[in-house]
Parts: sequence; C-alpha cells; structure tokens
Amino acid sequence: MPNAFISGVGFNPASNVVKNDDLRTKYGMETDHEWIVKRTGIEERRFADEGIGPADLAVAASQDAIAKAGIKVTDIDLILFATLSPEMAFPGSGVLLQRKLGLCDAGKFIPAMDIRNQCSGFLYGLATANAFVRSGGAKHVLVVGGEVHSAALDLSTRGRTVSSLFGDAAGAVVVSATDEDRGIRGTWLGADGRHAEVLCQRVWDMTKRPYVPLNADGNGVVVPEMLYAKMDGKLVFRHAVERMITVLMQACWEHKLTPNDIDLFCFHQANLRINEYIAGQMGLPPEKVVSNIQRFGNTTAATIPSLLFEAERDGKLKPGMKVACVAFGSGFTWGCALIDW
Ligand SMILES: CC(C)(COP(=O)(O)OP(=O)(O)OC[C@H]1O[C@@H](n2cnc3c(N)ncnc32)[C@H](O)[C@@H]1OP(=O)(O)O)[C@@H](O)C(=O)NCCC(=O)NCCS
Repeated sequence: MPNAFISGVGFNPASNVVKNDDLRTKYGMETDHEWIVKRTGIEERRFADEGIGPADLAVAASQDAIAKAGIKVTDIDLILFATLSPEMAFPGSGVLLQRKLGLCDAGKFIPAMDIRNQCSGFLYGLATANAFVRSGGAKHVLVVGGEVHSAALDLSTRGRTVSSLFGDAAGAVVVSATDEDRGIRGTWLGADGRHAEVLCQRVWDMTKRPYVPLNADGNGVVVPEMLYAKMDGKLVFRHAVERMITVLMQACWEHKLTPNDIDLFCFHQANLRINEYIAGQMGLPPEKVVSNIQRFGNTTAATIPSLLFEAERDGKLKPGMKVACVAFGSGFTWGCALIDW
C-alpha cells in the first residue's frame, strides 16, 4: 500500500484588503478595531470582487499546488472541493474548478466531489484523499478549501458578531502516492449533529412548501434571519476548545506521541483566543503554533492549507517535520491530521 503525502501547496487570498476600521467607514457597521482585535485577533481580512466565486479563487491556488507537486494538471485523478460558500445551490464548486482548470477541454472527465463540512471541510477532504491514494484509487488528488464569504455576510451592525470574523480565500494541496516512508500518518474526524443549528446559514427550508416564502408576485423572499449565518459564539468557542484538544490528544495517543514530538501545529483560524487557549492548556511553545488570522480572518475551509503554504514559504515547514492540523466548525464537526512532511 502506498503512502499519501502532500506534494504541493498553494494559496490565493482575495485581492481587496478590508481592515477592521473599513467595516465601520465603508460598510457602516458599528464596530471598532480594538473590539475585534481583543476578542478575535483579526486585524484585517480580504474580500473578493463581485463576479469572483470560490472556484475562481481556487484556480491560482490549485495551479500553484500542482506546479509545486511537479505534475501537470492532467495528472490529477480526483478533485475534492470543500466550501460552505459554493457559487450556487447545485452543482458544487468542484465541477466549476475542473472546467476552469481546463480539464474538460483536455478530455479529463475526472470525478469532482464537494465536501460540506465548513471549517473542518479541508481535513475531511484530506482524509478522503488519503483513503483514495492509499487504497490505490487515485495517484494525485487535488484537495481545495475555497470560500467567498463576503457575498453572504450581513455587513450591517445587525450582523457584526458573525460578519467581522470571515474573509475570502482559497487554499489547495495535491495529495500524491509515494513509496517513501512519509506523508499523512493518520486522520481523525468527528461530528456532533446535536448542535447543527448553533452555527448555521439556512437560506431556505426544504421541509416547507414553498421552500422559501413567496411574495404576491410569486417571487421568493428570504428574510435576514434565513439569509445570513447565525451563531451562538460563546457555545462555539467552548466546544471548539474541548473538541480540538480532545482530537489532538487522541491522535497523539494512538501514535504514541506527546505534543512535544510535534514540530508544527496548524490550528483552524476561527479565533486567535481559541488557539492561544488550546496552546496554553497543552503547553505548546508559541513558535510551534502558526497563525494568520490577523491578516485573513476566518477563511473557513481555506485556513489550514493557507497555514501550510505560509509555513513552507517562510521556512518553518521542512521535509521530515511532524505536523498536526486540527479544525473545528459548524455541524459541529472537527478533525485532526498527523503528517510527516
Ligand atoms: C464571536 C465572538 C468573538 C463574540 O465574542 P463574545 O465575547 O462572545 O461577544 P458577544 O457575542 O457576547 O457580544 C458581546 C457584545 O459585543 C457586541 N458585538 C458583537 N460583535 C461586535 C463587533 N464586531 N464590534 C463591536 N461589538 C460587537 C454584541 O452586539 C454584544 O453587545 P451587547 O452586549 O450590547 O448585546 C466569540 O464568541 C467567538 O469568537 N466565538 C467563537 C466563534 C467562532 O469561532 N466561530 C467560527 C467557528 S468555525
């Protein structure tokens, strides 16, 4: 059975920098820089231009990852696209990315699968890619986390608790087969559907007839409570800390490791305070815990590939290092991957 390793990483944040003060001055949100920094660590995020979707952002990230893997785009056997902000209800962003990468024109009608596990989506994708590669079902899998949140954020004061947190970006990795003794050593995934509505964006209700209310002209009308994401932030915070610590401890335990044996921690970037709390509880040295939430906010499925990309670019992630990636998000869902880089 081959091992599966990450052969290339790419990252493409959206182009427009939106500073905390811009939320107030450009969008009219009653907020201030200090409030956001103190609660979350976020100083700025990126918003995509109108007309740009997650698959568009994913193109450059994917091409970079593919180039670093030393393969051609036509060598990709499978696309896994994790996003909570797909261009449309269906089909998903994966087929759009396939088309934008030129695979259809090249006659490469490979499978494209969408993953709907929000902030844990990238790790759910990585686990799936690992299984495909190790079982011989694919040699090179493109795993993407891509989001354009800005289109669906309530940027008025009403939506500030959620809207001040998120940004737009795409990250991508290629997971490839190798006979070398390296790569993804294990993945651990979990979910607790009891809390599905604690962090959710409904938009429609498929149990109702019609599934969105219609006005007198027969046009769909979506009220703000349905249109935008809702969150009980304090509950999310508590569960995130507990689940991320537990899944990381489980991974270490099963691989007979202590956190000291791990060289780099890539935690989902939801809130700097969550990650500082976890690092404090587990006694992790700050230099082993990378973060970029200060510059990009929470880019949901894109956070972990963005951290891997920057750590490698900055010389903090080198072959032979042991990496732990951990995420938590809506669902609730969570995951951990241990990788020998
Ligand atoms: C979102 C979060 C920063 C909010 O912090 P909090 O301390 O729980 O704050 P609250 O929601 O209780 O709000 C406190 C006050 O600040 C206000 N507030 C919320 N967002 C604000 C903003 N951007 N600017 C200024 N004030 C804001 C609230 O309206 C509230 O005002 P009130 O007391 O007059 O009603 C925090 O709960 C959090 O980060 N939770 C985790 C969220 C997360 O990780 N989500 C993604 C999961 S993948």
